[in-house]
Amino acid sequence: MAVTYPLATALSIFPGVLLPERGGLHLPPGPAALPIVGSLPMIFWKKPRFRWVLQKAKGKDITCILLGNVHAIIVNSPELACEFLKKNDSIFASRPITMATEYSSRGFLSISVAPWGDQWKKMCRVIASEVINHKRLQRMAKVVGEEADNLIQYFQYYSEARQVIDLRKALRYYSGNIIRKIIFGCRHFGKGPKDGGPGPGPEEIEHIDAAFTVLSLAFSFCVSDFMPSLRIFDIDGHERIMKKTMKVFNKYHDPIIEERMRRWRRSDYVDDEPEDILDVFISLKDNEGKPLLTVEEIKAQVGELILATVDNPSNTVEWAMAEILNQPDILRKAIEEIDHVVGHDRLVEEYDFPNLPYLKACGREALRLHPIAPFNVPHVSTIDTTVAGFFIPKGSQVLLSRVGLGRNPKVWEDPMRFNPDRHLNEKNVGLTEPDLRFISFSTGRRGCKGAPLGMMMTYMLLARIMHSFTWSLPVGEGPVNLSEEERSLFMAKPLHALAKPRLAFLKHF
Ligand code: HEM
Repeated sequence: MAVTYPLATALSIFPGVLLPERGGLHLPPGPAALPIVGSLPMIFWKKPRFRWVLQKAKGKDITCILLGNVHAIIVNSPELACEFLKKNDSIFASRPITMATEYSSRGFLSISVAPWGDQWKKMCRVIASEVINHKRLQRMAKVVGEEADNLIQYFQYYSEARQVIDLRKALRYYSGNIIRKIIFGCRHFGKGPKDGGPGPGPEEIEHIDAAFTVLSLAFSFCVSDFMPSLRIFDIDGHERIMKKTMKVFNKYHDPIIEERMRRWRRSDYVDDEPEDILDVFISLKDNEGKPLLTVEEIKAQVGELILATVDNPSNTVEWAMAEILNQPDILRKAIEEIDHVVGHDRLVEEYDFPNLPYLKACGREALRLHPIAPFNVPHVSTIDTTVAGFFIPKGSQVLLSRVGLGRNPKVWEDPMRFNPDRHLNEKNVGLTEPDLRFISFSTGRRGCKGAPLGMMMTYMLLARIMHSFTWSLPVGEGPVNLSEEERSLFMAKPLHALAKPRLAFLKHF
């Protein structure tokens, strides 16, 4: 039963009375708003709040929703998205101050959520020159391949036992292993699963679950992010969850980081070649030969790199496989392409990717139709400005709608249909989308810094899964239920399937 609230009802009946006009400033159009609180009373009772925001912006190129005294600008049109992030990139290069990102970044020390300024520039230099460089990417490619081999063994194990595989769990495990190995040089925090199988142990499960909880709270329209004076009341209960979850998340990293720092500071410890990203962070020096990064900066950046790596590839591949299992023609086409390029005597390797346009189109289509989150990471304007004839006040939060762009019927024909063929005429079929017709890695100063690794992981997962095994749904199940969870954009039910090796040599792998 729908519950009505007097304030919200008043707003919907008398918008003209409560919001006569916005001072002739020509803000983008939007719903009614009250003085001081704006539309906050309207979203207060809505759970999840993003669905209300998406609904208000539906079918419109641009919408302004006043939350507290913050103008949230929702953008559904690629042309307008480019006006913000390409033409006016430097103006919209900041990030909002939110309760959750304050916790996750230990006070905005890490690159993704730091507002525009010296801290962002410092961390950006570190990531661009020391993490995502040619040499490191070659090492990362090796790890991606090793973990893909481990994933095959994981599937083999379940296949031999004729057990159903929880693909969501497997894909998140794969992603977690890769980033743990890249940062810490180890894939497990504990001793592995109790049953001695090849899957995640309780520590890895707890670690990745914590990462996904943090991600779900990062930009979730928490009331106090728009009215900071309410933060002490923790009305949404988000702060309590964040505190607890960050404790769990950090308990796996902090001891390793502290121990490694002690080792590096020992006078007899000589390590001329940093082995992993943690070594890199600890060994960086400033112009005076002093450590460049503080322990808090290292801890914040390590945690954030984990968060940045685990979500997109696993979600994209789970949705792609779910859609593909419901459309055997797409599966057949993808497998024919891989068989043609790779054959049956070896596994897919990274060097095959340039020759697999259809496979890449499948990944691209999943990212378009099934983004990980409703909106891009918010961008904040640093000055009053005008965009496409609209006044955008300083401090506005620009939210490019991943749903509104990727499922926009003015941009995509039959947008809700999973159809990889629609991408085959692109100059370079792949996950990048600089024209912002959907959000993959975004663009400009705050665009994704880890795109090469993200692409490698996504292609490798999709290719190995489809090429190495024949997949079927558990008896009595099917087609796959493609509903979204109400409170997120994940599949409502994790994808479960059975695997059977389709390459003869895999039986002895
Ligand atoms: C398929 C995988 C991935 C996708 C789709 C993706 C997408 C994105 C998006 C949409 C943003 C926000 C851009 C904006 O604000 O306009 C972003 C930011 C970022 N991503 Fe990724 N990402 C992926 C993987 C990765 C990986 C593997 C890493 C690191 C190793 C990474 C590191 C970052 C960083 C550091 C930022 C923040 C940039 C800044 O604020 O300056 N991402 N990513």
